[in-house]
Amino acid sequence: PPSTEYQAENATISQGMVESNHAGFTGTGFVNFDNVVGSSAEFAVDAAAAGERQMTLRFANGTTTDRPMDLTVNGAAVRSVSFPGTGAWTAWVETTVTVSLTAGPNTIRLTSSTANGGPNLDRITLA
Ligand code: GCU
Repeated sequence: PPSTEYQAENATISQGMVESNHAGFTGTGFVNFDNVVGSSAEFAVDAAAAGERQMTLRFANGTTTDRPMDLTVNGAAVRSVSFPGTGAWTAWVETTVTVSLTAGPNTIRLTSSTANGGPNLDRITLA
């Protein structure tokens, strides 16, 4: 089946802003998470069937310090996702993790786990 893109600017954002000042994003912008523990974005994702999916996250981190975020699916902790420095805020890269979805609506949430906050997040794509 085709993959589905979910733009971060359409997610439910807590302690973050939609911005568009660093070129190379897709859609209309990206999320700049506040530089605090707990800043987050939650995606509402519908799955046709239960099972594991590859989730690709597109991001930029113009610093040299990792900006890890905690990943939860339907409220359950999955793992920490690393968002290392990409060289510039305009240098967007992708990282892929596996998530297990239930059939129907799911919530996928990313929450900053360090005081630097998350990276700039462009989108997630579910295979
Ligand atoms: C800079 C950059 C932002 C980024 C921020 C950060 O201000 O312009 O896009 O989000 O650093 O460190 O999080």
